[in-house]
Amino acid sequence: MTQMTDWQEKLFIDRADLSIRIMNIRWPYTERSVEGIVDILNEHGIKGGHVLDLCCGNGRISVHLAKRGFRATGVDFSKPYLEDARRNAERLGVSDATRFVEGDVRDLAGVLRDQGEPFDAVVSAWTSIGYYTIEDDLSTFRQARRLSREGSVLFTIDTQHEGRAVQLGSGSSTLELDDMVMLEKTTYDPITARKDTTWTFYRRRGRDLEYIDEVYYKIHVYSLSELSRLLGEAGWRVETCYGNIATRQAFGPSTGMNIVAQAA
Ligand SMILES: C[S@@+](CC[C@H](N)C(=O)[O-])C[C@H]1O[C@@H](n2cnc3c(N)ncnc32)[C@H](O)[C@@H]1O
Repeated sequence: MTQMTDWQEKLFIDRADLSIRIMNIRWPYTERSVEGIVDILNEHGIKGGHVLDLCCGNGRISVHLAKRGFRATGVDFSKPYLEDARRNAERLGVSDATRFVEGDVRDLAGVLRDQGEPFDAVVSAWTSIGYYTIEDDLSTFRQARRLSREGSVLFTIDTQHEGRAVQLGSGSSTLELDDMVMLEKTTYDPITARKDTTWTFYRRRGRDLEYIDEVYYKIHVYSLSELSRLLGEAGWRVETCYGNIATRQAFGPSTGMNIVAQAA
């Protein structure tokens, strides 16, 4: 039995109106990332087919894959994000090629029990892992492997990673969001590789800021070798890792972490 904690419920559901503002910042970059994904799929002989988008949020990866001729199934446990994902698919004319399913990825096999055909590819984008135990993430990737065909390709895109987290350490920063300001406070413990983050949202009132609410999340930050080992155990053989999936920049401590793995 999988359960959501209080902080997950607040961040992803109760205050989805706030967290979706952060999610939307990534939309303009997504077309380029998806182009990178599609190029790599083509190089693996996958020119179309069905992609599983793990923890799909408001659908940016699924929708752009659908625009590139793929079918996409996104799974997420946040109803408000999924409703927005369906609106986004409609807006971009790809409703027929996308399916957004409400469910917990830790019970992926149960959530997708009606899935007929195996998936040709799997995407886990923007730190959709590390929220739970390492065994939970292993189980999710294992279930994704069982739902995918021989030769399918898995991507972890823009996953936070240890090298970068050590570099950035603990600290705070602000982000301007039109009518709002968000203050981010992060504590990173390099011994446990645990990162705790609080986002505090304020509404602009002339020259003043009015407090709206605060959301919090904690994650385990994987290193490349740790996540590669985990994926290997789950049946995904890691081929390479890029710092940027669109440009294929080499991976390093200051870059993103974008793993490409194939069903072993
Ligand atoms: C940082 S967001 C990434 C969203 C999306 N992949 C993207 O790149 O825009 C993390 C997502 O994971 C989802 N999530 C977290 N734990 C989940 C779980 N156990 N089952 C399904 N979705 C989950 C959240 O609802 C949220 O949409």
